[in-house]
Amino acid sequence: MMGMSVMLSSSSGEKIFGGFQKFVDPLPIPARIVADGNPAEITITMDQFTTKLHRDLPETTEWGYNGTSPGPIIEVEKDQALRVHWRSNLPTTHLFPAPKGMGGMDTMPGMPDVRSVTHLHGAVVQQPTTWSSVNTSSDGLVNSDGWPDAWITPGQEQITDYPNPQEARTLWYHDHAMGETGRNVAAGLAGLYLIHDDYERSLNLPSGDFEVPLLLQSRGLNIDGTLYYSTDIGNEFYGNAATVNGKLYPYLNVEPRKYRFRIVNISNARTYALKWVDPKDQSAGPAIYQIGTDSGFLENTAVLDDPTDPNSSRLMMAPAERADVIVDFTNYAGRSFALHNNHLDPGDAEIALPQLMMVNVGTKVSSEDTSSLPMQMRPIERMDPATAKTTRQIVFSTMNMPDGSPMLMLNGKSWEDPITEKPELGTTEVWELINTLPDMHPFHIHLVDFQVLDRTPYDVDAYLKTGQINYTGPAESPDPNEMGRKDVVRVVPRMVTRIILNFGPYPGYYVYHCHILEHEDMDMMRPYEVVAPASIGVHASHR
Ligand code: C2O
Ligand code: CU
Ligand code: CU
Repeated sequence: MMGMSVMLSSSSGEKIFGGFQKFVDPLPIPARIVADGNPAEITITMDQFTTKLHRDLPETTEWGYNGTSPGPIIEVEKDQALRVHWRSNLPTTHLFPAPKGMGGMDTMPGMPDVRSVTHLHGAVVQQPTTWSSVNTSSDGLVNSDGWPDAWITPGQEQITDYPNPQEARTLWYHDHAMGETGRNVAAGLAGLYLIHDDYERSLNLPSGDFEVPLLLQSRGLNIDGTLYYSTDIGNEFYGNAATVNGKLYPYLNVEPRKYRFRIVNISNARTYALKWVDPKDQSAGPAIYQIGTDSGFLENTAVLDDPTDPNSSRLMMAPAERADVIVDFTNYAGRSFALHNNHLDPGDAEIALPQLMMVNVGTKVSSEDTSSLPMQMRPIERMDPATAKTTRQIVFSTMNMPDGSPMLMLNGKSWEDPITEKPELGTTEVWELINTLPDMHPFHIHLVDFQVLDRTPYDVDAYLKTGQINYTGPAESPDPNEMGRKDVVRVVPRMVTRIILNFGPYPGYYVYHCHILEHEDMDMMRPYEVVAPASIGVHASHR
């Protein structure tokens, strides 16, 4: 943590705002936009506005979509095509000063200060198959995946086409402009997007008022209620406060019944490890039953925070991970529980954010709870590494720039370097994600879901000297809540994390990156190309 704007010390969470009290504001639920028609078409604006982050704070200026942060919840049905016009009504001066950029990217003369491009995280979209068309500005054009270099400026519009062929799942949209993602998301540019289908409805999950989104975001908050962002892109932005659905430390009154929560970690860099804890005596609250992950339902519900099992794990959520969970408050009438987080990155000066929100369980239900808590869902066939056509290694490391400053990279390459990953359309590959660094990096890839195969400890020092991987222990299975389809995976230190992916359904240019936004911005991001078989060898890539 750096910068003069930091007002908190890790032990003084209650002090800084004078009379600042937690859990006095109700949890806001973002507006819903249910797509109408097939294809449906909507316009969403990006704007600057003021809002009350907390009862006792003055109005805060932030950015968002359609005048709120997080933006509206966009809801579609599987196979319902949606065209979105993302119109920037942002001012031409950024909410935050440009951080000291390691590549100098943000200080390049002539660059507009405000650049934005929206990406739907988890989307399956068609991208251009020619390099020149992926890289033009998006103004008035279709840029469905939100190509990072094809940003727009205030007054301009980006068009995206989402065919939504995926099964029901929790997606989210956020800014993705090259070098600007961290600053833009910290300002508030993020929102939820849900795909529904008949299978989801057949599960009879808690719905309506009993299905609640929880978008967790760490924020940088000054004592006067203004927001701040990192002054140096070389520092991960952990912030000093947390909002849930855009409110600081809100409360939610619930009935003693089952709820479905769609939890999304929309933070720039912070990972959470979550559990319901009674603030009076620190006793454990209800278990968290995780039924779905980034890319739809699990096969087997994962039980987390089981109060009857002292070894039960917390719900761990790295940036951009989603958890679709059921919590049963039936036996907890009259009690209150904090959504408690005990995750701190070792080695980083991260300010603890132990209590994110409070639920107050009432004593009666407004109607009988007839919803279900499924322990088993549709089978998910485990992909077989023997079917992989190619195995690739993606190395997470630092490189020294000519001026001596370190730069985080994937395979020692920056965003600008020629494309090196060109999987063939329809083929399966294994990617070995090799972390040589002391911190966890959440890996994310566009267009495709993957399955996590395993994580295996290896000798990092030997690898850095010789380039050879010597495994030092047995492969560890993914956690039970990682056994479904994912699009983000924690690439933990001192291990090789293996994932398996099948590339499709479209050829074209996409990206993969670390989802710590300051890492993504300073070049832990690479383009890749899904190549249609017929064009291999014919169409020479421009990079
Ligand atoms: Cu959440 Cu490349 O994105
Ligand atoms: Cu994405
Ligand atoms: Cu990273």
